[in-house]
Amino acid sequence: MTAMLSVEGLHAGYGRSSVLRGIDLHLDEGEAIGLLGPNGHGKTTLLRCVSGLHRPTAGDIRFQGASLLPLSPRAVLRRGVVQVPQGSRLFPRMTVADCLRLGGAANPDRSARRPLLDEVFGLFPKLQQRSAQLAGTLSGGERQMLSIGIGLMAGPRVLILDEPTLGLAPKVKHELADAIRQLRGRLEALVLVDGDMDLVLRATDRFYVVESGQVVQTGDSVAGADSARMMSLFLGDV
Ligand SMILES: Nc1ncnc2c1ncn2[C@@H]1O[C@H](COP(=O)(O)OP(=O)(O)OP(=O)(O)O)[C@@H](O)[C@H]1O
Ligand SMILES: [Mg+2]
Repeated sequence: MTAMLSVEGLHAGYGRSSVLRGIDLHLDEGEAIGLLGPNGHGKTTLLRCVSGLHRPTAGDIRFQGASLLPLSPRAVLRRGVVQVPQGSRLFPRMTVADCLRLGGAANPDRSARRPLLDEVFGLFPKLQQRSAQLAGTLSGGERQMLSIGIGLMAGPRVLILDEPTLGLAPKVKHELADAIRQLRGRLEALVLVDGDMDLVLRATDRFYVVESGQVVQTGDSVAGADSARMMSLFLGDV
């Protein structure tokens, strides 16, 4: 079976500094994968390459068998590869409803917009309550919900979430983590990057650890979650 999305021998950097040094990974249809790894080791750079926002220096990224590299970011989005960027900035003077409408405008299937909006409001009831509110007045957690909602409105075949829980208070983080786990069953495929290792391992099927621009470990998330729990037992923080 051809993978839905595959990254093959990917190299990328900024000027003379090389950040990605031969990344290989794949995502099958119906699968959720997690990317883990220390800060500044290339996770966001990798995701930006997938979305066509950063140009790799070598390697390939294929979606359903065809290379994404010749495509513009907009064309990648229209194929259904949708990314919710790290610390995504919203339009502060637009209402929640207008932001979601803007997300829907990226969806080539017009008839899907209404059901998707219902789905977003089902997942994040707070967004429905605040639909007339300006995005700039939302709390950090609500802003993150809105960013994910905008991504969902675009009709993702693969949804890519880059650090959705970064900087959130524990209570809000749990709320968002629940929503991400629910999402997992509804999407065709999911890529999740987050500093919360437990969330990543619980919400995905497989994981990759990216260090110094290379995949240094990969495995089954359930087994990974068990060993992470074992590790915290040993360290005495549970
Ligand atoms: N626009 C840029 N120009 C120059 N260097 C950059 C740029 N963006 C990222 N870098 C550098 O590339 C390296 C990888 O950064 P990247 O954001 O991909 O890592 P990350 O794994 O997503 O980190 P984090 O966990 O902090 O989000 C870092 O050393 C970073 O400083
Ligand atoms: Mg990052």
